[in-house]
Amino acid sequence: MSENILVCTAWPYANGSIHLGHIAGCYLPADIFARYHRLKGNNVLMVSGSDAHGTPVTITAETKGITPEEVAESYQKEFLNDWKNLGISYDLFTSTHTENHTKIVQDIFTTLYEKDLIYKNIMSQPFCRKHNRYLADRYVEGTCPNCSSDNARGDQCDNCGNTLDPKDLINIKHKDCDDSPVFKNTEHFFLKLSAFENDLIEWVNSHSDWKPNVKNFTTGFLENGLIDRAITRDINWGIPIPVEGYEDKRIYVWFEAVIGYLSASIEWASNTNKWEDFWKTDSKSFYFMGKDNIPFHTVIWPAILMGYEGLKLPYD
Ligand code: MF3
Ligand code: ZN
Repeated sequence: MSENILVCTAWPYANGSIHLGHIAGCYLPADIFARYHRLKGNNVLMVSGSDAHGTPVTITAETKGITPEEVAESYQKEFLNDWKNLGISYDLFTSTHTENHTKIVQDIFTTLYEKDLIYKNIMSQPFCRKHNRYLADRYVEGTCPNCSSDNARGDQCDNCGNTLDPKDLINIKHKDCDDSPVFKNTEHFFLKLSAFENDLIEWVNSHSDWKPNVKNFTTGFLENGLIDRAITRDINWGIPIPVEGYEDKRIYVWFEAVIGYLSASIEWASNTNKWEDFWKTDSKSFYFMGKDNIPFHTVIWPAILMGYEGLKLPYD
């Protein structure tokens, strides 16, 4: 009997070229897997796309003196060319900068908001007085509190690999003007991850066949306790928040990019319900990614799906 197999690969940021490590670690294994299942006679859908939003793309745009949209479009072309030249056999390689994706992300956001799984709260964010704007994590730099490297960013230190919060940085500076930002309160939307802790632990435990590093990392992550996370940012490039009064903020890139697996499947089905074969009925989904992406696929994405209800969680 033929099976429905969804093959998902991590969405590369549309701000830089694909390199050999991406191919060897993610795209080639996924393609071999997809071709194997097609040969076996299974019903395969292989999707992905460019991760077009967020500060990786705005920072590249500022450096090059062009718009984020131009950056994303040029890398989308380059990626499509790479897949063609390498023979990576996607059924659809789209982008998060589409109307279809925006609509589906906003629908999921609204559904979770109505279920109180997304709620508003105040958080303190670095604010540059010279530029009169809030600074996303990657726009602040300073000294790492763990290893004393001078080049740490607000999201992480590349020298020691630790994840950071802007508040952790010693001698915090706005990367574009060297001014010390002040911390100001700003309103954001939070995903109630804490509500999913028990269900996620149970779900992870039910998967005995995951790779040991994926399973161990995820179990450790869940055992540390889940805290609710802000899923909106003070930037103007990305998916608008579908609630009135928040026009100057956008949905956080990681919250919306993972929804791409679903929106790409829907786009591929072009107005038919063929996508449901991979999301609703008997089917298995397999995700290929680099190790830094694990918690977004084993915690955040499953939590979004659990909250939304009615769609299949990742299989492996
Ligand atoms: N753009 C991310 C990276 O390169 C991966 C995003 S995977 C997604 O690390 F599913 F969230 F899109
Ligand atoms: Zn460090």
